[in-house]
Amino acid sequence: MGRTAGEKVRVVSGAKPTGKLHIGNYFGAVLNWVRLQQEYDCYFFIADYHALTEEWDPDELRRDTLDMVLDLLACGVDPEKAVLFVQSHVPEHTELCWVFNNLAGFGDLLRMTQFKERREAAEQAQEFVSVGLFDYPVLQAADILIYHGAKVPVGEDQLQHLELTRRIARRFNQKFGEYFPEPEAILSEAPRLMSPADPERKMSKSYGEKHVIHLMEPEDSIYQKIKTAVTDVGPQPDRGMSPGVKNLFTLLRLTAPPDVYDRLLQEYNGRTLKYVTLKEAVFEHLMRTLEPIRQRRRALTAHDAREALRLGAQKARAVASKTVQEVKRRIGVGAEALEALSA
Ligand code: TRP
Repeated sequence: MGRTAGEKVRVVSGAKPTGKLHIGNYFGAVLNWVRLQQEYDCYFFIADYHALTEEWDPDELRRDTLDMVLDLLACGVDPEKAVLFVQSHVPEHTELCWVFNNLAGFGDLLRMTQFKERREAAEQAQEFVSVGLFDYPVLQAADILIYHGAKVPVGEDQLQHLELTRRIARRFNQKFGEYFPEPEAILSEAPRLMSPADPERKMSKSYGEKHVIHLMEPEDSIYQKIKTAVTDVGPQPDRGMSPGVKNLFTLLRLTAPPDVYDRLLQEYNGRTLKYVTLKEAVFEHLMRTLEPIRQRRRALTAHDAREALRLGAQKARAVASKTVQEVKRRIGVGAEALEALSA
């Protein structure tokens, strides 16, 4: 599928519904989406079917999906620029997944490190391991190829899944004629934010509330978390910057003007920086950065989110159904496959 001049490169990316977003999500992935939508033809979705691969609660899933969409809109994901939708609203993904199940190697899936890790963790906790968990990367391949995605912004942990996506595309093309592109990753160089309470671990809700700072968290609660963020007893010349201080400087770099960052870093290097000063600066500039997002979020309603998703699903389905129709034609299934035949 060649591109003519002026056509934008297609980007596809999904994220599991984690509910209300935190600043780690924002600076790590969402800000990247907001930037990509200016330049690329973007398809962004909430991977709610992928959420079923591990224990879930229906009410929580509904709530998390809506909360996440609201936060994405507040962050600046623009339904006029990018196609924003929920995976399960486009049933063609799972239809294509079934076809791909027959092009994906069992051995290839057994080798997926994410599956191996999750399976091990689940078995250790004596939890159920489903076929869905095993099949996760095949659904992901369908998510991407159904839109003929050329570029996929993901973290390093997804590179193996993307390699599998390319293998599936290749196998399809070999058997049924050139049709799918072989998508490539866009690895973001976004810094990983760490937990303020335990800066050796990444910022993640799964560790508990004190390990994350939500975009919409009350100001005094954010202040408390930054004020009590773990640092150290002062610069240790031979050990370099401690993880906690490094995390605060990362936040400062993401939110403050460069001269503020440079000045405080110089003070740190000159051993004159007080961590209270650093923390006050981080708090001030973080709040200033979040303010427009928080304002937009306060103005959004569930109705706005549902309308955005309706538009998104409509646009996504128009593309997805064409792909599935063409795939079915090529592989010999569907009512149309029988049409040209005679008795
Ligand atoms: N597996 C991805 C993750 O955990 C989420 C995902 C599902 C995805 N489908 C996708 C990412 C398609 C990119 C493209 O981050």
